[in-house]
Amino acid sequence: MKLLVLNGPNLNLLGQREPDIYGRTTLADIEQSVRELAGKHGAEVDFRQSNLEGELVTWIQEARGNADVILLNAGAYTHTSVALRDAISGTGVPTIEVHLSNIHAREEFRHKSLIAAVCKGQICGFGAASYTLAVHASLSISSKK
Ligand code: DQA
Repeated sequence: MKLLVLNGPNLNLLGQREPDIYGRTTLADIEQSVRELAGKHGAEVDFRQSNLEGELVTWIQEARGNADVILLNAGAYTHTSVALRDAISGTGVPTIEVHLSNIHAREEFRHKSLIAAVCKGQICGFGAASYTLAVHASLSISSKK
């Protein structure tokens, strides 16, 4: 299985950014645990981060034929981006929405995800473990294909 893990804006700051909400784990730490878990199951990982909406759109488009599952933490674009939503539905690659924090327990503007309806499912609220839980979810959906 080929797993594409995409991280949106400000996630490069994990570890120093609002640690009371997002914890002290860095994105590099998350990448390592995703690679370890995926590796144990024979899955390949392509792990990326961008602060640019258009770059994320391009990467989602390019996933067609190159990735079996996308794990996407779209950061703040989750709540604003019709372009990301259209890219996910357009590419047809099963996508799992991931968040460290429980977006439903935070400010009202975070309760709405514009991408949720075009994703297979959403994993949020488990801190860095949301990513490894999402790896398990992707293994489960790709084995059912
Ligand atoms: C986030 C939640 C978003 O609301 C926020 O804008 C982020 C991080 C999370 O992982 O909890 O940047 O996606």
